[in-house]
Amino acid sequence: MVNRSVVQGWGAYLPEKVLTNQDIAKIVDTSDEWISRRTGIRQRHIAADNEMTSDLATYAADRALTQAKIDSSDIDVIVVGTATPDETFPATATRVQERIGAHAAYAFDIQAACSGFVYALALADNFLRLGQARTALVIGAETFSRLLDWEDRTTCVLFGDGAGAVVLRVEDGLGSNADRGVLSTHLHSDGRQHDLLYADGGPSLNQVAGFVRMQGREVFREAVTRLSSVVDETLDCNGLTIADVDWLVPHQANKRILDSTAAKLGIPLEKVVVTVDRHANTSAASIPLALNEAANDDRIKRGDLVLMEAMGAGFTWAAAALRW
Ligand code: ACO
Repeated sequence: MVNRSVVQGWGAYLPEKVLTNQDIAKIVDTSDEWISRRTGIRQRHIAADNEMTSDLATYAADRALTQAKIDSSDIDVIVVGTATPDETFPATATRVQERIGAHAAYAFDIQAACSGFVYALALADNFLRLGQARTALVIGAETFSRLLDWEDRTTCVLFGDGAGAVVLRVEDGLGSNADRGVLSTHLHSDGRQHDLLYADGGPSLNQVAGFVRMQGREVFREAVTRLSSVVDETLDCNGLTIADVDWLVPHQANKRILDSTAAKLGIPLEKVVVTVDRHANTSAASIPLALNEAANDDRIKRGDLVLMEAMGAGFTWAAAALRW
C-alpha cells in the first residue's frame, strides 16, 4: 500500500502595492518596451514596509486552510520555502506556526532559492509517506524586493513579492483517491554555478542580507537545459510522456524561459500556466501562486496531471508530478 500526499487546499496572497514597468522606468534607465519584450513582465507586487515574508505566508496559509476545511491544530508539519526570511533566525515557518495557532506542528524553512517550493513539497511529501506527519502545510513566500539593488536595472526589473500555500494530507492509496496525490519529486543542485546568481551578503560574511547579483544571459541558457531535463526525468520515472501532462506549472522567471522550455519539451503553450506577466519572478512563491490561480479559475481540475518545475540560485533545480 502506497501513501500518497493529496492536495486538500490551496491559497495565495499578493501585496496590495503594484509596481508597473512604467513606474520602474522612473527609478532606473529602462522602459516598459524593454522589460516586456525581454521578460514578458508588465508589473509586480511589492510588500509594504511593515509587511514581512511571514505576513504574506500567513495570509496564504489561512486561505489554504479555509479552503481545505482543515483546522490549524491538525497540522503536523509546516515547511516554508524562502530565501527572504523575516530574520536570520528563527525560521519564518515558526512565525507562521504561531500566527495560525498550529501549535502541534514542527516548523522549519528550506532555502533553495527559486526552487524552494518544490523542495518544500518534496520534504513534506517524504514526511507524509514515511508516516512522520499526516497533514502538512507547504508554503512558498518571498519579499524579494528587499534584496533588490534599485540602481541595477539588470536585476530590479525582474522580481516581485508574494506567497502561496498548499495543504497536503496523506491518503492511503485506496478508494476514490487511489490515483491522486504527489507521484514523484526530483531535486538537484550544482554548487559550482554559485557565481552566476547569488545575493552578496549574509550573516557569516558579517554583512546585512545583500543584493541579487546575476549573469542573466548565462542563467537563461542553463535554465532551459536543466528545466527540460528534470521534466523528462520526472516523466520517465512515472512512465508518462509529455502528452499525458494536463498542466505544466513552471517557476515564473521569464516568459522567454517558459516559451523555450515548453518548445523543447513539446508541450503546447495552452497547457502552461503563466503568471509572470503580472507577478514577475516571486522566487519560491511563484509556483504556488500560479497553482492557486489555475485551480481557482477551474483550469486545474481534480484528476489532472500537474507537473511543476523550477530552477534557482545554487544552482538548484527540481520538479514534481502530482495528480490533482
Ligand atoms: N532595461 C534596459 N536595458 C537593459 C536592462 C533594462 N532593465 N537590463 C539590461 N539592459 C541592457 C544591457 O545593459 C545590454 O545593453 P548593451 O547591449 O548595450 O550592453 C542589453 O540590454 C542586453 O543585455 P542582456 O543581459 O544581454 O539581455 P538579455 O536578452 O540576456 O536579457 C535578462 C536579460 C532579461 C535578464 C535575461 O538574460 C534573463 O531573463 N535571464 C534569466 C535570468 C532570470 O530569470 N533570473 C531569475 C532567477 S533564476 C530563475 O528564476 C530561473
